[in-house]
Amino acid sequence: MNFELTEEHLAVRDAAREFAQNELLPGVIERDEKQQFPAEQVKKMGELGFMGMMVDPKYGGGGMDTISYVLAMEEISKIDASASVCMSVNNSLVCWGLEKFGTEEQKQKYLKPLASGEKIGAFCLSEPEAGSDATSQRTTAEDKGDYYLLNGTKNWITNGNSASIYLVIAQTDREKGHKGINCLIVEKGMEGFVVGKKEDKLGIRGSDTHSLMFTDVKVPKENRIGEDGFGFKFAMSTLNGGRIGIASQALGIASGAYELALAYSKERKAFGKPISQHQAIQFKLADMATEIEAARLLCLKAAHLKDQKKDFAKASAMAKLYASKVAMDVTVEAVQVHGGYGYVKEYHVERLMRDAKITQIYEGTSEIQKIVISRELLK
Ligand code: CAA
Repeated sequence: MNFELTEEHLAVRDAAREFAQNELLPGVIERDEKQQFPAEQVKKMGELGFMGMMVDPKYGGGGMDTISYVLAMEEISKIDASASVCMSVNNSLVCWGLEKFGTEEQKQKYLKPLASGEKIGAFCLSEPEAGSDATSQRTTAEDKGDYYLLNGTKNWITNGNSASIYLVIAQTDREKGHKGINCLIVEKGMEGFVVGKKEDKLGIRGSDTHSLMFTDVKVPKENRIGEDGFGFKFAMSTLNGGRIGIASQALGIASGAYELALAYSKERKAFGKPISQHQAIQFKLADMATEIEAARLLCLKAAHLKDQKKDFAKASAMAKLYASKVAMDVTVEAVQVHGGYGYVKEYHVERLMRDAKITQIYEGTSEIQKIVISRELLK
């Protein structure tokens, strides 16, 4: 067992750290306040290769491994979780699924602009009445011969407006249950497709989360991913990988908050000495650092299994379950270490605390991760 990162891994981590410090930190508080999508910054992330990190270079990607992706996600999430969720969805849920299960034509037409960061993708599974219970899709994709007629509404879609390529999960044959579900590639601008209201959220406020409406949208048959009825399996497989991305986001939120708390504790004086010299604060820092290290190891283990082409469904669910809890716990403690300053926007930790909560909800709630883990245990 080797815990050392390679030179290449360290270079990716440093590049992501530098980008986050120089390009994402300025304006992050304002973007959160104004609910402003970091469009310019995401464009630069594409130019630097962060939007299609694991995609084969022949399709415009970076050809990197999942470990590199975890390292970059952590660094970017330390500073701006709104930018990192856009990155995670594009990399894990859209590019990975297209590369693994798409046809050569789909890869040429859709994967290339997504992997190079020229376009942004969205993954559309959740509905007003189908969140955790993903088989209960109400959106329908009626088979009309050479096209599908798409009707329905999707909710809480990350990159809802900034995307131009959407992977939409819909029911074709209700009687077949999950085997009657398809995944269709839908382009912005297709007739009958409307981007709906933007959600006003607690955290990740720079990320654009929208509802989407489809009314008699004609989607060509060649835009279906995989065989007829493969849509649910497609969604579950991509989510296994997506959970590594969100676990790494949670890890980054936690480690960003911890680094701020550590630095602040050395500066702030109380009772005649820096608060870092008080055991009450030292114990908090020790707990935070230990939990973060454990979360990091779970993220890297899941990434390692995926890179080794081994089964990683349980490992990615464990990483997400644990890292998202750590994100919540550590950010609350980071606010506490900052005292009154932690409660105001200028010090960043209150935003990280708000951002942390979503990591326990999207790409499967913590309860869903426990279902995935326990099913694997009981197999
Ligand atoms: N990996 C691969 N395949 C899987 C799988 C997994 N993790 N989980 C289930 N499957 C397969 C099963 O093997 C089964 O296939 P067979 O019939 O061939 O055996 C099929 O899928 C159906 O499985 P189940 O009967 O177990 O399905 P279920 O209805 O009981 O649901 C569930 C299982 C785990 C609860 C699933 O519905 C789930 O993961 N729900 C959560 C959905 C979710 O994560 N939503 C998040 C939305 S996306 C998002 O948040 C993106 C964003 O904006 C950031």
